[in-house]
Amino acid sequence: MNAPADAAQPASVDAIVELLGAHDYLCDRRLATAILVAMRINKPLFLEGEAGVGKTEAARALAAGLGARLIRLQCYEGIDLAHAAYEWNYARQLLHIRLVGEREDRVRTEQDVFGPEFLLRRPLLDAIDNHDQVPPVLLIDEIDRSDEEFEAFLLEILADYAISIPELGTIRAEHPPLVILTGNRTREVHDALKRRCLYHWIDYPDLEREVAIVRVRAPEVSERLGRQVAEVTQRLRGLDLYKVPGVAETVDWARALAALGHTEATPAALRETMGAAIKHQEDLERAEEAIAEHARP
Ligand SMILES: Nc1ncnc2c1ncn2[C@@H]1O[C@H](COP(=O)(O)OP(=O)(O)OP(=O)(O)O)[C@@H](O)[C@H]1O
Ligand SMILES: [Mg+2]
Repeated sequence: MNAPADAAQPASVDAIVELLGAHDYLCDRRLATAILVAMRINKPLFLEGEAGVGKTEAARALAAGLGARLIRLQCYEGIDLAHAAYEWNYARQLLHIRLVGEREDRVRTEQDVFGPEFLLRRPLLDAIDNHDQVPPVLLIDEIDRSDEEFEAFLLEILADYAISIPELGTIRAEHPPLVILTGNRTREVHDALKRRCLYHWIDYPDLEREVAIVRVRAPEVSERLGRQVAEVTQRLRGLDLYKVPGVAETVDWARALAALGHTEATPAALRETMGAAIKHQEDLERAEEAIAEHARP
C-alpha cells in the first residue's frame, strides 16, 4: 500500500490557522500549535473546554482541511466495545455454520467464522484498520460521558494505535489516524488516559475573534449587530450563571435578531430573543439585568 501523501500535511502553525480558516473555523495560534504538534509526534490530542467553544467543530474543520475522512465516535454512558470498536456478526456466522458446517469439518468452520469478514466494524476499528490515502481524523467526542471501563479500553488504542481482538489477534494501524478527543468536564477524565494524549484547553474567544466567528457562521448578520451581540454574551460569561452561553449561542443569538429584522441589539430586542443564548430558567433574571446594565451609557 502506498504511504499517504505527506505533502498534504500542513507545515507550520500559520498553515494550520489558514487551513481551518478555509473551513470557517477561526482558531488562535495556541490551538493551531497543539494540532501541529499532535500531527508531528503522532499523539492523540485531548481538547477540553466549556460547552459550545468549538471542540467538535475543530475536528470537523481539520478533517475537511486535510481532505481526510472524519470518523466520529460519540460517547455516552454505557458505550461499550460492541458499539465503539467491533462486534461479531452473529447472524452471518450462524448462516455460514449452517450452510457449510454440515458438509465440512466442524472445527474448521468455527475457525472460519472468526475471520475479518464476519466482523462488524465500528468507528474505532474503522479508524485503526483504515486504508485511506490520507489518514482519517478520529474524533472521540465527549469522552467524559463514557464510563471508566471504556476509558481503560481506549488506552491501548491511544498508545499503540492497535486493537486486540481475542479471536483474531492484534490489528495495528498502518497509517495511524489523527485522534482528537473532546470533553467538557462533566467528570474528570482519568490520568492514565490524559498521559497518552496532548492536552489543550479551548477557552472562549476574545471579542474580536468572536465577532469574526459570528460573521463567518452567520454572514447575514452585520458587523455592527454581530459585535453588539458578542459584547453582551461576553458580559454574560462574567456572571455566575447556571450555564453561560458558548460561541454557538452567540451565533444563534445574532441570527435570531437578524431573522426578526433587527439591525440593532437593543435591550428589548435582546430580551425577545434571549432563548437563543440562555437555556435555563434560573438564569433569565440575571441575564435580563445584565442586558439592561449593558445598555446604560
Ligand atoms: N473557533 C470557531 N470558529 C468558527 N466557529 C466556531 C468556533 N468556535 C465555535 N464555533 C461555532 O460554535 C458552534 C459550536 O461549536 P462546537 O459544537 O464545536 O462546540 P463544542 O465545544 O463541541 O460544544 P459541546 O461541548 O457542547 O459539544 C459551531 O458549530 C460553530 O458554529
Ligand atoms: Mg461538541
